[in-house]
Amino acid sequence: MEIENAAVIKAASNSLQASHSVSISLPQDKSIFHRILFLSALSEGAVTIPITGKIGEDVQTTIDALRLLNVLIEQTDTALTIRGVGKQGLSKSNSPIDCRNSGTTARLLMGILSAQSFDSQLIGDTSLSKRPMKRLASVLHDSFGADITTTSEGTLPIVTRGKQLRSGNVALPVASAQMKSAALLAAYCANIETSITEPSQSRDHTEWMMRSFGIDLQIANSSIYLPSQRSLHLPNNYHVPGDISSAAFFVVAAAITRSDLRVENVGLNPTRTAYLDLLMDCGVPIWFENVRLIHGERIGTIIVQTSNIQGIQPFDISGSVIANLQDEIPALAVLALFMKGESQIADASELRKKESDRISVLTENLRRCGTIVRELGDGLMIEGSPDFIPTGFTVSHHNDHRIAMAMSLLGFRASAAVTIPDASVVSISFPSFFSELQKFQRATTIELQ
Ligand code: S3P
Repeated sequence: MEIENAAVIKAASNSLQASHSVSISLPQDKSIFHRILFLSALSEGAVTIPITGKIGEDVQTTIDALRLLNVLIEQTDTALTIRGVGKQGLSKSNSPIDCRNSGTTARLLMGILSAQSFDSQLIGDTSLSKRPMKRLASVLHDSFGADITTTSEGTLPIVTRGKQLRSGNVALPVASAQMKSAALLAAYCANIETSITEPSQSRDHTEWMMRSFGIDLQIANSSIYLPSQRSLHLPNNYHVPGDISSAAFFVVAAAITRSDLRVENVGLNPTRTAYLDLLMDCGVPIWFENVRLIHGERIGTIIVQTSNIQGIQPFDISGSVIANLQDEIPALAVLALFMKGESQIADASELRKKESDRISVLTENLRRCGTIVRELGDGLMIEGSPDFIPTGFTVSHHNDHRIAMAMSLLGFRASAAVTIPDASVVSISFPSFFSELQKFQRATTIELQ
């Protein structure tokens, strides 16, 4: 399904249809993909990554950025091969490196480039150019002496000046996997030792990769020790699993259409499964099959069986779990509309710094479809009911892929069409999103215009 412009989602009837069983294919995990690309480029030797669908735009942005830094990457529809250049083998780019919409590309590159011997400039699109970069620049400066200049607003464009970094410890101001990974990569490239602590544990893919590929990284609670003098030894082939954050839209789709769902080969890293634990606590029957470890990462099948459930309880989330729910909150907010009672999200002010201000954009859209929502400084309160019928509306996604995908789900239960303008925004993380969504509720039409 090619998206030219808008996507229009229209349920034939807003009463629930007969349940059926859906099996969906996910894009490959974006977080893991960025990391294996960077680590492969910084290792010595070739790494091949099998490709199982269309690559998302954010991942392509990292591939293109590495090419500008003179890393040879062969790309076909079925595989990528990265020829590593070593931790100090990158070359200065002749042009600014465009990180487009990808925060992970920009932040991980900030770490890597601050430890090279040449200067670099990083730029991004309008959305990325509004997101905070100063706090990472300050962490890298205060801990390792990195020389990074941001705009006076603390944003892109930024310039990293090549220099030898010094050893130092890092205390992250917020739980952020991007900041933590940037610090680990800077220390790795500079051959310095470091200890990194974060207020609570964020996703830990970088740590697992480093550990699996020969680095004696020590981890205790929310603290990591990286010794100096070490090298990565990557395997010839690395399999990137399905993206569990992308699966969240379909777990919610299953719950609101009362369908049964099966998702195979999905990453089940415990720092990413918090939304599944939450949904199980709310009464959604979910279980796992065929769980195994590949390259240190837990991978398996998610089964959701909602065809016979009576009601789902509202949720109340706050505190350290929020760091592990950031990307899934848009989908959870949609489910909250159909739970009996009030759901609450607090301590989530980081959501205001994502691809859009997700607190205000969620509030705006959920109100447009007739929901009672209260916007808090650091979260949302959403009033739900199992019989709620959203009105049809045109989504205002502010170019945020996760908002566009979450709002699409309302089309299954709305009284009239839900229209997603500029629907190709989903390709940032999930190019085949609408084809997969089409598999739900037979009576719903999805038209791409
Ligand atoms: C990511 C970390 C998270 C997440 C983002 C991807 C990563 O951001 O929201 O989509 O791959 O490290 P923060 O590090 O800002 O929490």
